[in-house]
Amino acid sequence: MSDSQAENSVYWALRDGYRLIDTARIYGNEAGVGRGIRRAINDGFVTREEIFVTTKMWTADFDNGAAAVNASLERLGLDYIDLMILHHSQPRNDVQAYQAMEQAVRDGKLKSIGLSNFYEPEDFDRLVNATEIVPALLQNETHPYHQSGVMKEHLKKYGTVMESWFPLGGRGNTQILFDDPTISSIAVAHGKTSAQVILRWHLQAGNIAIPGSSNEAHIQENCEIFDFELSDEEMAKMTALNKDERFASY
Ligand SMILES: NC(=O)c1ccc[n+]([C@@H]2O[C@H](COP(=O)([O-])OP(=O)(O)OC[C@H]3O[C@@H](n4cnc5c(N)ncnc54)[C@H](OP(=O)(O)O)[C@@H]3O)[C@@H](O)[C@H]2O)c1
Repeated sequence: MSDSQAENSVYWALRDGYRLIDTARIYGNEAGVGRGIRRAINDGFVTREEIFVTTKMWTADFDNGAAAVNASLERLGLDYIDLMILHHSQPRNDVQAYQAMEQAVRDGKLKSIGLSNFYEPEDFDRLVNATEIVPALLQNETHPYHQSGVMKEHLKKYGTVMESWFPLGGRGNTQILFDDPTISSIAVAHGKTSAQVILRWHLQAGNIAIPGSSNEAHIQENCEIFDFELSDEEMAKMTALNKDERFASY
């Protein structure tokens, strides 16, 4: 999203009841996200304490992690960031980058830290064993066709939670999931959309979903998932959709 799209989307989302905002340095829209947050605070929809702002450190910044934290704070226009995560595993220098985030936690600049795009338990353990603060969260591609079961099981022993990126399949792929006969028939049965059924599945499966949208109506639709519930049978049907297939190649 451009800065102006990000600003509007964040503003609409906070107005509609969202409390978690996800961005990244590499998206080039941290400044727009910060403006959307300030507009929502100024209009009285939320306070800073009520919201949870996540950004990510890009791999090219791993050798200069302290500067990367400061630059994200500056662009967002915030005094602290609720969660910063390393955008990708990069064994050459991700431990060093993570240690810079640990220092930023001690300095009060970051409230919590975590990881993204660690797909092998051994790779996750490599970083955890070399650092002090257990990652609060792992953000990996997770949706009905790639349910991340092995990593979710692995995370349990650390108390780390799974956050789903591409929760709806991601830009360009969503229609594949929306048209899936199992998902669309569950949607019809509840008088909901396929997007809402997928997001409700994430919730009941214990995933933190971060749907992306720059469409005001979709943003509203995607948070109207707290007035229905998938039965055990429907959850089992959703679980059976897993193909261990990712849409993205990174
Ligand atoms: N860590 C990583 O490497 C990584 C990688 C990719 C993404 N992410 C994060 O994951 C989050 C979501 O990613 P994403 O936006 O790419 O994937 P997504 O949420 O799975 O899909 C977004 C797509 O779905 C459409 N959409 C959303 N709600 C809809 C609805 N109710 N009905 C119909 N279409 C709908 C959006 O179009 P409209 O705009 O038209 O609604 C957009 O094309 C973002 O916060 C992103 O930062 C992280």
